[in-house]
Amino acid sequence: MGFEYKNGELYVENLKVRDIVKDVKTPAYIYSKKHFQEQFEKFNKAFTREHCVSFAIKANSNLSVIKTFAELGSGADIVSKGELFRALKAGIDPSKIVFSGVAKTDDEIEYAIENGIMMMNLESLDELYAVDRVAKKLNKKGRIAFRVNPDVDPKTHPYISTGLKKNKFGIPYEEAFDAYMQAKNLDNIEIYGIQFHIGSQLLDSTPIYDASVKVAELMRKLQDSGIELKAIDVGGGLGIVYNKKEDNPPSVETYAKQIEDAFKEFPNALLVLEPGRFLVGNGGIMVTKVVYHKTNGKKNFIIVDAGMNDLIRPSLYGAFQEIQPITQKGNKKIVCDIVGPICETGDFLARDYEIEDTENGQYLAVFSSGAYGFTMASNYNSRPKAVEVMVDNDAYKIIRKRESLEDLIKGETL
Ligand code: LLP
Repeated sequence: MGFEYKNGELYVENLKVRDIVKDVKTPAYIYSKKHFQEQFEKFNKAFTREHCVSFAIKANSNLSVIKTFAELGSGADIVSKGELFRALKAGIDPSKIVFSGVAKTDDEIEYAIENGIMMMNLESLDELYAVDRVAKKLNKKGRIAFRVNPDVDPKTHPYISTGLKKNKFGIPYEEAFDAYMQAKNLDNIEIYGIQFHIGSQLLDSTPIYDASVKVAELMRKLQDSGIELKAIDVGGGLGIVYNKKEDNPPSVETYAKQIEDAFKEFPNALLVLEPGRFLVGNGGIMVTKVVYHKTNGKKNFIIVDAGMNDLIRPSLYGAFQEIQPITQKGNKKIVCDIVGPICETGDFLARDYEIEDTENGQYLAVFSSGAYGFTMASNYNSRPKAVEVMVDNDAYKIIRKRESLEDLIKGETL
């Protein structure tokens, strides 16, 4: 879907990647609008009860990408004032926005309340008191949910696992009931929902089911004490295929059914979903140019013009992302490290990777770069950020210009 080789030539929808990079140069992020739309429809259709899909925009927060989802009726899961600003600019309906994160400041809380978002998902009592205080000042009510930490092992990379007791996220399951009781006593708080998010790139749907069952149990207890929740937000996390030989995520239908089964005794609550990676991950590639080859001792290196500042997932998580030449010539295969220009040993896109050898000046595509690719990019080593391009059928549009040298020093003084 979206990206396909035809006679050894990589296409995005109906455009040759080679033709795009000839114009826009590298490194370049290239997205398929159709892929985004199809993933959204697939996800949306899998749920049968009343629900709201709120795209986790940290995965890809380009305005045009957010707008693509807004046009399909998507909401947004945001984690900062900056993300809320982007979501509103891109046309997301505020009543479909949920606000995650452990450290919401007064300023962010005020911006969220003023803009009438659906709810703020709170992660501590300190945060509850802050919302109460800010809401009072505004003479409004702060609509809240608590993010409950269900202590379920999501069986994913430790850096992206969030629902264990040892993680900083959420309110411990055992303390959540009392937190709601506290909230009930505050004048400027409207208790609206409950939320959990156990981790990202989940390749097994059992942990999400187990967490849902635990949260449903807590909801029963709250109901018995007179607290009816209007929204159940199950976070994001559904995994995608990065490695065709190894990754076998559950189908979105299985994922949806397990969640709906766990919460069937609360049919009137709105189910909120916060998918990020599922919607955009496989809808983007990062294209980079081979600049040099070299061999040190026994190791072969392909040196490219994109580094860990452009795409950090391989360096940070040891994440696997498939890499292929955009024009396959049938050259002999080599085993090599594909490395960037940054002055760090950890600057690689792949290690001990088997790939058809590609001459200097040719291009490689790093697949599955639509999520947590550009959004995690930095200017390390004073490298301007890459261009972002969106393809729609047989046309492409630059949706973020490559940064210039002047952009690099913007706001600095001599
Ligand atoms: N909701 C909350 C509260 C989250 O913290 C996240 C992701 C999501 C939703 C979306 O999760 P998704 O559906 O995309 O798995 N940078 C890492 C991933 C970090 C995920 C952080 N939270 C990576 O590149 O793998």
